[in-house]
Amino acid sequence: MHHFDYRGDELYCEDVPLAEIARAVGTPTYIYSHATLERHYRVFDEALAGQRHLICYSVKANSSLAILRTLFALGAGADIVSRGELHRVLLAGGDPAKVVFSGVGKREDELEAALRAGILAFNVESHGELLAIDRVAGRLGVRAPVSLRVNPDVDAQTHPYISTGLKKNKFGISADAAREEYRLARSLAHVTVVGIDCHIGSQLTRTAPFSDAIARVAELARELCADGVELKLLDVGGGLGIPYRDDGEAPPSPAEYGQAIRDAVAPFAGLDLTVVCEPGRVIVGNAGVLLTRVLYLKEGGEKNFTIVDAAMNDLIRPAFYDSYHAIRAVRRDAAAAVWTTDVVGPICETGDFLARDRELQCVPPGELLAVMSAGAYGFTMASNYNTRPRPAEVLVRGDRFAVIRRRETLDDLVRGEELPDLLAPRG
Ligand code: LLP
Repeated sequence: MHHFDYRGDELYCEDVPLAEIARAVGTPTYIYSHATLERHYRVFDEALAGQRHLICYSVKANSSLAILRTLFALGAGADIVSRGELHRVLLAGGDPAKVVFSGVGKREDELEAALRAGILAFNVESHGELLAIDRVAGRLGVRAPVSLRVNPDVDAQTHPYISTGLKKNKFGISADAAREEYRLARSLAHVTVVGIDCHIGSQLTRTAPFSDAIARVAELARELCADGVELKLLDVGGGLGIPYRDDGEAPPSPAEYGQAIRDAVAPFAGLDLTVVCEPGRVIVGNAGVLLTRVLYLKEGGEKNFTIVDAAMNDLIRPAFYDSYHAIRAVRRDAAAAVWTTDVVGPICETGDFLARDRELQCVPPGELLAVMSAGAYGFTMASNYNTRPRPAEVLVRGDRFAVIRRRETLDDLVRGEELPDLLAPRG
């Protein structure tokens, strides 16, 4: 469910025509719907009603301050993976006591910043990291709250690049090793064990892998509790998939997902755990589109190409994962020809496409297309490749809209660069 719909033949975000935003802000531009964000958060929250839980929104999906502020106002905490994300969370008014810190490669300066901020838990991914956390906490004279990220060896059945819960993946600690590491953690002077964590992958379209993973981790939690470890948090990660196609594709609903979590946790009711969830995509994915303008049409050869002003540097998902994003004409025209076209950007790579062999209304140069479901892993994965400024971002709320990040300028593109003296000819 989202709030990008046609009124007559014009595509709107809530009560604002997308064409009006293009006139005011230009293209390419990411556009987010405030009502959709709110709705997604509430539906997810309600799906876990009856189970004590904390939603730690996964910042990597979309880390714009205004998006974070919107979710924090609804009560969200945050799942972070870097010091930069912590900085954003604090700037946006997030509560550090609702922050979990994941990731296999946390540097000591990052550990220190998170300890100083007073986060809820570190999701520890290795033996070495556990020792590093103890060391840094000792230096600061504090105790670090830790959960161990257990790799449950479950196949998430998603794209291999975003599957994280198999033994062969770099993530987490195997269940066997975790027992050992928990013993170690309990013996360390500057660490307090607070929970157990897992995350098996992203864009999951079935509930069974979640249920399997949670059941395995909850079983281990029970063993640990029997051993006297006081676990308070059961972090089940993120990963719930969203529909990307307009063809009725239906990944599990948040309600089904919530039920799967409740069912998996039910046998452990005596443990009095707070379930921590780290959803990213399911909150923001369908709350955003990438608005782009058609530059040229190339037709008649083996293929038809619609060349637009957005490219793989703006939205890398199609190039990187061969992922599908629905594309809509901003001005729908029932009388226009429909053709099969690749929608491609200006970047000098054959991999620079937003859609391939897509049946689409033939939209002439100067007109607009909306690349749908681009709210998650869109802007956050954007780059300056081909020295292209990253797009502007706009948030719509009802009949109002605001630029939440201005388009980068030519100055932004060379910020921080130097032409040092050593380049001068030797004289
Ligand atoms: N927690 C952890 C530890 C994660 O690694 C991730 C995502 C999440 C939570 C949030 O997962 P979500 O609910 O958004 O599925 N760039 C890829 C997705 C990478 C996901 C990385 N980790 C894409 O565009 O599909």
